[in-house]
Amino acid sequence: MSAANANAEIIRDRAGSEPIEVALVLGSGLSGVGDLLSDREEIRYDELVDFPTGGVSGHGKALLVGTLSGKRTAILTGRAHYYEEGRADVMRVPLETMRAVGAKTLLLTNSAGSLENDIAPGELMMISDHINYNGFNPLIGEPTDDRFVNMVDAYDPQLRKQALSIADDLWITLKEGVYAWYSGPTFETPAEIRMIKGFGANAVGMSTVPEAILARFLGMRVWACSSITNMGAGLSDETISHQHTKEMALKGAKKLEQLLERLVGEL
Ligand code: HPA
Repeated sequence: MSAANANAEIIRDRAGSEPIEVALVLGSGLSGVGDLLSDREEIRYDELVDFPTGGVSGHGKALLVGTLSGKRTAILTGRAHYYEEGRADVMRVPLETMRAVGAKTLLLTNSAGSLENDIAPGELMMISDHINYNGFNPLIGEPTDDRFVNMVDAYDPQLRKQALSIADDLWITLKEGVYAWYSGPTFETPAEIRMIKGFGANAVGMSTVPEAILARFLGMRVWACSSITNMGAGLSDETISHQHTKEMALKGAKKLEQLLERLVGEL
């Protein structure tokens, strides 16, 4: 049996067999979303098969299953990153597991640095498209023709439209832009930031892109949003650090929680 199917059995045993409609991945400092779940069952990643436990502070190490806005929802409270082990497909089993339990929609969140003066720390930027600046791809080695994934409108236009309208309703400023994936774990140099901005990116971060690629490969609808924690290196006087990222992520977290709660309800 595949790891994903084995995990699906564990999840059904522990959290009930009703299909899960939506899966959510939480970025640094965004774990508050998990508190919105009712009838919540917590399954530690180390209780699941081939689930990367991830070693980044500020990230959770458990899968939560419960109900959010009336929808059966699974929340990955933390993700593993490329920079931890050098594997672009490190999130493949977790996402295959989400698909195996029924999730047709994947909502991704992260913390990111802004490249734009009008996208400020503390604000949210919904991802409209991405630049896989690393060139690493989680589907390298995938033998089937399904690997040739069309990445036009990878971030679902309908969900983006819905999110903009919900944000408007909630008086939340929701910017939209292109996210560039930089491997990390170092932050970028100011020269790299100038280059990536020149390439057309509006924000930069160390995650999300490989997960969006995997989810499209698995046939899931994808929506993603960055909580902007800082200006990119060299664009302001502040010193960028992981501690600062975690503290600043909390600023956007409340807004993101409100947005996600409504978005899941309207799926
Ligand atoms: N660069 C990369 N990743 C990040 C940043 C950044 O400036 N801020 C939060 N995550």
